[in-house]
Amino acid sequence: MQTLHTSRLVLEPLVVSHADALYPLLCDPRQLEYLDHGAPASLGALRERYRKLESRRSGDGLEHWLNWAIVVRGADADAIGFVQATVQRDGRAWVAYQVARALWGHGIATEATRAMVDHLIARYAVTQCMATVDQRNQRSWRLLERLGFGRADAKQVAAMDVQAGDWLYLR
Ligand SMILES: CC(C)(COP(=O)(O)OP(=O)(O)OC[C@H]1O[C@@H](n2cnc3c(N)ncnc32)[C@H](O)[C@@H]1OP(=O)(O)O)[C@@H](O)C(=O)NCCC(=O)NCCS
Repeated sequence: MQTLHTSRLVLEPLVVSHADALYPLLCDPRQLEYLDHGAPASLGALRERYRKLESRRSGDGLEHWLNWAIVVRGADADAIGFVQATVQRDGRAWVAYQVARALWGHGIATEATRAMVDHLIARYAVTQCMATVDQRNQRSWRLLERLGFGRADAKQVAAMDVQAGDWLYLR
C-alpha cells in the first residue's frame, strides 16, 4: 500500500499509531450525525481495529480494505482524518471519508478523496467507485458531486443494499 501525496496533504497508510490522533475526532458527535455507526468503544478498541486493518484485507482475504490517514503536508502534525476504500473482486470499490470538524470547508476531504479515487483506478484497476450517503448529509454529497459522482437511478439502487434515507452515488 502506497503513501499518496497531493498539493497540501500526505495520505499515510493507516497504522495503529494513528488511533491516538483520530480517536477524539471519531467521538465528535458532529462527525457521527449522519453515520450509521457510533463512536469507538474506547481508544483501545480503536487501536485493535486499526491493528487488524494493517492486514489491508478482509477476513476472508477476498477484498482489499484500504485506509489512509490524512496528514497536512510539511506540518509534522497529527492525522486530521481518513479516507477508506473497500475494493471488491469485481473491480468495484466502496469509498468513505472523514475530516476533523475544525477543518471542514477547506476542500481537504475533496482533495484527499480525489487522490484516493485516482489511485484506486491506476493501482487497483477499479472500474466503479460507490458511496452511500445519508440524504441530509449535504457536505458529503456535494463532495461526491464535485468529484464527478452521480446519483444512482432506482434500478441501480434496487440492485444494491441501500438503507432507507440514503442515496447511492456512483462514478
Ligand atoms: C463529509 C465531510 C468530509 C465534508 O467536509 P467538507 O469540509 O464539507 O468537504 P471538503 O473538504 O471537500 O470541503 C468542501 C468545501 O470547502 C470549500 N473549499 C475551499 N477550498 C477548496 C478547495 N481548494 N477545493 C475544494 N473545495 C474547497 C468548498 O467550496 C466547499 O465548501 P461549500 O460546500 O460551502 O461549497 C465532513 O463533513 C465530515 O467529515 N463529516 C463527517 C463524516 C461523514 O459524514 N463522512 C461522509 C460519509 S462516508
